[in-house]
Amino acid sequence: MPVSGSAGPLSGPAATLIYNDWYPAMRSETLEGKRMSTAMLMGIPMVLGRREDRRLFAMRDLCPHRGIPLSCGWFDGKALTCKYHGWVFEPVSGQCMEIPSLTRDDTFPRNLHGMAYPCEERDGYAWVYVPEAGRGRVKAEDAALSPVPEAPKFGARYRNAHLTADLPCNVDHGIIGLMDPAHGPFVHQAWWWRKQASIHEKEKRFEPIPQGFRMATHAPSANSAPYKLLGVYGEPITTTIDFVLPNRRYETIRCGDKWFSSLTTVTPTTASACRIDVFGAWNVLYHLPFMTSILRFFGNMFVRQDQVTMIQQAEGLKYDPALMLIDDADKPAKWYFALKQARLDAERTGEPMKHPMDGPVTLRWRS
Ligand code: FES
Ligand SMILES: [Fe+2]
Repeated sequence: MPVSGSAGPLSGPAATLIYNDWYPAMRSETLEGKRMSTAMLMGIPMVLGRREDRRLFAMRDLCPHRGIPLSCGWFDGKALTCKYHGWVFEPVSGQCMEIPSLTRDDTFPRNLHGMAYPCEERDGYAWVYVPEAGRGRVKAEDAALSPVPEAPKFGARYRNAHLTADLPCNVDHGIIGLMDPAHGPFVHQAWWWRKQASIHEKEKRFEPIPQGFRMATHAPSANSAPYKLLGVYGEPITTTIDFVLPNRRYETIRCGDKWFSSLTTVTPTTASACRIDVFGAWNVLYHLPFMTSILRFFGNMFVRQDQVTMIQQAEGLKYDPALMLIDDADKPAKWYFALKQARLDAERTGEPMKHPMDGPVTLRWRS
């Protein structure tokens, strides 16, 4: 039931967020010239742009003076000027350089900063390192501890594409949806097309990896799309899928020197909403110019099918129901929750993270 006195539609339950890591804030190709763009990331309003020297910046979109969004002001390619009283900030460090109202007799406040976040460009995304909420300035050393995520590439020559969709549920539901093996025949095939006979038993080996788990390298099933596509090369095909905290799914398909690689992330925009981003790179059929369009078409169709389903699911999740995760199909979801808890515990206690899996596990399900 809607909470009495609450304004507007009921929003779904919030998730605990994982800080001290990199998240994609937005596509970086739109950040050019003197343009500033805004993005919501982990509930923090951000203003992003690119300096003349091509360095990206991400600042909290609030002037430390009196709180107006910095994005209301001006950026000249070097510095950002607040619209209200003209304070000037260097946007990569966040340092305040100028306060126009000060007289010659005033002393300039020392160490005055807007909140600036480490921001790096990979695979056409502006990745932002988000420190623990309420912590002061981010130290570059902290950000350097975890590498900026990137889809693996196996050669210099490749094509790529990206897709995105907003999901009206919290990041936990977005992530377990991403790793859910049992929804395929229902969400990704029309009911009038699906043959019950196409559902069959599957068996996959999983093993622990740092901060996550891996579906061990295996040959894709003979009727899957990558198999059909790569089958033309006549070499053995292997697939590896990794999940890595806080939000990443890496998939690598290899066939001799041909490869397809993707990095999918589910990023909390706020504690109760998220966005899925898929980046793919490949050298398969490199010379067929329409491959990019075909992959984008099918990728879009899959992502939209998931998005529509999760918009519907969000209707039910508004009532914060208890969930019923079953073995073995929901085991990856259980591992995700256990990994997340282990990481939050490690951050709280300062102890090394205890991985919830103690060895390889074989899962069986029908899909
Ligand atoms: S609010 Fe930004 S300079 Fe005053
Ligand atoms: Fe899906």
